[in-house]
Amino acid sequence: MAEKQFDVLVIGGGPGGYVAAIRAAQLGFNTACAESNPYADPKGEPRLGGTCLNVGCIPSKALLHTSHLFEEAEHAFPSQGIKLSGKVSIDVPAMIDRKSKVVDQLTMGIKGLFKKNKVTFLAGHGSFVSGGADGYKVKVGKDTVEAKHIIIATGSSPRHLPNIPVDNKIVCDNVGALDFDAVPKKLGVIGAGVIGLEMGSVWRRLGAEVTVLEALPDFMGFADKDVAKEALKVFTKQGLDIVTGVSIGEAKVSKKGVSLTYTDKAGKENKLDVDRLIVSIGRVPNTDGLDPAAVGLDMNERGQIVVDEHCATNLPNVYAVGDVVRGPMLAHKAMEEGVMVAEIIAGQAGHCNLDTVPGIIYTAPEIAWVGKTEQDLKTDGVAYKVGKIPFLANGRALGSGDPTGFVKMLACAETDRILGVHIIGANASELISEAVVAMEFNGASEDLARICHGHPTLSEVVHEAALACDKRPLHF
Ligand code: FAD
Ligand code: NAI
Repeated sequence: MAEKQFDVLVIGGGPGGYVAAIRAAQLGFNTACAESNPYADPKGEPRLGGTCLNVGCIPSKALLHTSHLFEEAEHAFPSQGIKLSGKVSIDVPAMIDRKSKVVDQLTMGIKGLFKKNKVTFLAGHGSFVSGGADGYKVKVGKDTVEAKHIIIATGSSPRHLPNIPVDNKIVCDNVGALDFDAVPKKLGVIGAGVIGLEMGSVWRRLGAEVTVLEALPDFMGFADKDVAKEALKVFTKQGLDIVTGVSIGEAKVSKKGVSLTYTDKAGKENKLDVDRLIVSIGRVPNTDGLDPAAVGLDMNERGQIVVDEHCATNLPNVYAVGDVVRGPMLAHKAMEEGVMVAEIIAGQAGHCNLDTVPGIIYTAPEIAWVGKTEQDLKTDGVAYKVGKIPFLANGRALGSGDPTGFVKMLACAETDRILGVHIIGANASELISEAVVAMEFNGASEDLARICHGHPTLSEVVHEAALACDKRPLHF
């Protein structure tokens, strides 16, 4: 018999895993969560929180906040009559230290939540040994653990380029990019995706000359075309040098930096010399050492664990959630799936609607969206109407000195149901929630148009965009 027996074993303690474990314990299951990352807490145990809390969402947002304040102090303060004596400067180690304290507080907080909810924390790598409908044996570190239900939440790791090894000093993935000891004079970024734009913005604001090299011909091809166009205009004006349609060639790495060659859209070979390079070209699912073959777990050609809409795998009582399965690699999506699976195990009707998972890029302006883009609707042959209102027409945005961007709402021409909302502008990350709620309730643009929005707020632009779907905006 195994030394440790549980009703539910969660493998991986990131947002998908720790939330699934807490919810399963709340529902009365004897639950354990195994975690094996190299980020040790003061007790020497692996930290909980996964990529998100340790080397993802939270530390990146802490650095985005500090660098935004720095930029405001340099540029926005003088424009609003605030004078600082002397030049604004940045103490990078102090900024990194603050970021690390935020990470410490949150990751230790999850250990506290585990205690409160009676989740057993197991330090160690989870690896399938055997099992079936009656239960599974999983090796966690040196112990063998037995559990009736398994939730796999092993997350993802950065994808690297074969010819450019990452040392997280000169050539960095997300881990090193969050821990620079100084502002590089010249920074190269491979990949103009979410990490490239967020981390490129951090170091650009603090004074680095940033060149972003993107393989695809179109910038932000995943976003609504109007948002992508506005974003390119704004980021370029801010000083990000974004080159699309590149093919990366050779890289010579020394202690001083990287000398990189790339071919541009026109087929011309270029050279880029930088002090540091961030490689942010997407992420791959983590199944190393999990030994899925030991129990016959189905995987697809992308290395993801195959699941249905309820995150059930091909094996009885085995579920997988978060970055290790299909769908967007986002912390809130992982958490929703974690809750859904715990509730399904308890016999409840768990649900996670991938069609209303919002996407957010925390640049300035922020970019947020939910649902279909205008291109999607054209491709799908859906007749739609558009309400698009700039923040320039909004008193709060003007008063705050930040009128960049717009809200664009897409609604069905026939039923008026909201099909997509796309925002580029200040606080887009918060504004998008209203659209998510409306869409989750199958709301129409008319519903939002008839709701009283506080004045003066940025949310009035969402209201006006809803009114504009019916060609009756009041302030534009
Ligand atoms: P992870 O967070 O990757 O957690 C998986 C955990 O499982 C890891 O701790 C790993 O050590 C552990 N593990 C793996 N294999 C095993 C095993 N066999 N045994 C035991 N433990 C194992 N998303 C957002 O929604 N908003 C953001 O602002 C955002 N910003 C990001 C910024 C950066 C720089 C990065 C890199 C990502 C960001 N993300 C963001 C994405 C987000 O971090 C992920 O989508 C999220 O962490 C996925 O959660 P998860 O639980 O599936 O996996
Ligand atoms: P990404 O998928 O967002 O972007 C990768 C980019 O690199 C793409 O534009 C791709 O075309 C490009 N690329 C791929 N191969 C290339 C090559 N050889 N040369 C040049 N360009 C190449 O991936 P990223 O930025 O690494 O982030 C990973 C994931 O983490 C994101 O998909 C997102 O899910 C999550 N994330 C979420 C954040 C948020 O929610 N705000 C912030 C950061 C990350």
